[in-house]
Amino acid sequence: MHAGQVQIQPMSVQDIPFIEGLEIACFPEPWPGDIYRHELAHNRLSSYWVVRPVQEHAEDAPPILAYGGYWAMGSEVHIVTVATHPDYRRQGLGRVLMAWMIERARAGGATEVTLEVRAGNVAAQALYAQMGFVVVGRRKGYYHNNGEDAVLMTLFLPTVATDPSFN
Ligand SMILES: CC(C)(COP(=O)(O)OP(=O)(O)OC[C@H]1O[C@@H](n2cnc3c(N)ncnc32)[C@H](O)[C@@H]1OP(=O)(O)O)[C@@H](O)C(=O)NCCC(=O)NCCS
Repeated sequence: MHAGQVQIQPMSVQDIPFIEGLEIACFPEPWPGDIYRHELAHNRLSSYWVVRPVQEHAEDAPPILAYGGYWAMGSEVHIVTVATHPDYRRQGLGRVLMAWMIERARAGGATEVTLEVRAGNVAAQALYAQMGFVVVGRRKGYYHNNGEDAVLMTLFLPTVATDPSFN
């Protein structure tokens, strides 16, 4: 599955049962569906996205190939989660989704995109580095299940200088 065979859409409550299965497959501390339900219904800062196969490829593929979300907080957009279905990794879908979220952050006027990632999560760190994120810090023992450190990464977005005399 490559970028031309997928589409990105807002996550809806109907997606949550499938997302719950992906959470278990993708994360050591999966979010229960209720967190997603709460986020979609009540968190006005959040945006969640799903990557689906386009019509022609929908029959032999799962309904959601990847998903992710962020909180937009003025100049900072914080990536809350990103994951690709285990059977569809290394096909560029994580990159496509990250690029989508970064572009939306940029369009919304953010100057930095932030995230945290497990110190041992080499795949995700490689993806983020490829997108231009740099390591800016570390939180010792951040993750509850095994006391793993969190690595803090930020993508600094260039601000476009506006000329007030230009109309
Ligand atoms: C991290 C994750 C989202 C990457 O998704 P993906 O769709 O496989 O990523 P892509 O195919 O777009 O890969 C883009 C780049 O990321 C890096 N990358 C991805 N997986 C990698 C791996 N297993 N090892 C090393 N680098 C990897 C590579 O640089 C890759 O580019 P390349 O394939 O041209 O070499 C996926 O592995 C995943 O869902 N992991 C479990 C959930 C998770 O850890 N999420 C992040 C939480 S912070």
